[in-house]
Amino acid sequence: METKKLLQLNETALAAANAADTLDAVEAVRVKYLGRKGLLPEIMKNLKNLPAEERPATGQLINELRGKLTNLIESKKSELAGGAQETVSMSFDYTLPGEWVKHGSKHPINQIIEETARIFAGMGFTVADGPDIETAYHNFDALNTPDDHPSRSPNDTFWLETGELLRTQTSPVQIRVMEQQQPPIRIIAPGRCYRRDTTDATHSANFHQIEGLYVDRRVSLADLKGDISYFATQLMGPGIKVRFRPHFFPFTEPSVEYDFSCHVCGGSGCRVCKNSGWIEISGAGMVDPRVFTRVGYDPESVSGYAFGMGVERIAMIKFGINDIRLLYDNDTRFLEQLA
Ligand code: DAH
Repeated sequence: METKKLLQLNETALAAANAADTLDAVEAVRVKYLGRKGLLPEIMKNLKNLPAEERPATGQLINELRGKLTNLIESKKSELAGGAQETVSMSFDYTLPGEWVKHGSKHPINQIIEETARIFAGMGFTVADGPDIETAYHNFDALNTPDDHPSRSPNDTFWLETGELLRTQTSPVQIRVMEQQQPPIRIIAPGRCYRRDTTDATHSANFHQIEGLYVDRRVSLADLKGDISYFATQLMGPGIKVRFRPHFFPFTEPSVEYDFSCHVCGGSGCRVCKNSGWIEISGAGMVDPRVFTRVGYDPESVSGYAFGMGVERIAMIKFGINDIRLLYDNDTRFLEQLA
């Protein structure tokens, strides 16, 4: 077939495809030109009858025509089959810059809790848990707290109508664990605590503590001091100093309060440590025999130490934060810096 005729065929085929306005009509065009017995395959078959020098050019022409016609028929089909959406998605601009999705980061409070659990795990401690809504028995009575103790006052404690309360400390977890298990016991218990405190730079009505309890034969105050000091070094680095001061708690005897040297100023005095060089972490002591009796342990055969830790306080010295409220504001510009 001559080139001219081929070009003519090209025109009519494309026109026919363009004019087809139903799927059937498009299919008919396809069968007529591209089908197994269609015109183009037919011409292809007869290519071998052409003089050798004409074959390549003619072959190429036929291929071009077939390509164009196939594309046209395909797009006609999808258009008629309601392919409008496809056209929209085809117009998506893949070169547009993407939108950044901000990744979250681990909150400093959780960082301290996880790191503490990891360090104490190395000393054989597991993590225990207790409820935020506690009974007065677990939060006070079993911890040997007298009925007239000021911490029971509604000015200090959030009492619920049920007679229960929002735990003021993680110490009730000690009781819950000892009610369930026999010594030896080695647990830490991180969690939220609630007190009617007015929020300021160093206080919050909702804060976090980590409780610790070690009960076995012949546990001593030296174990307590050694383990807390080891923990402090692991968490804060070798330069940290720990100081124990005599104190009173109803559920420990003897009791201490303990401080870490200020990590921010290295102990020379700054705003974070209120110029004292020390930051109070919390209290600790040897478990009072009355507490053991309450949970059915024999105080003659077991002894133990217990401690609390203020997580926010530790976070503040570790990260050099001088206002506790920064930990609750959820300002990601702040939190990202500590990730
Ligand atoms: N629960 C005490 C508080 O919130 C801290 C504390 C003191 C915990 C002595 C203890 C302890 O386990 O032995 O102030």
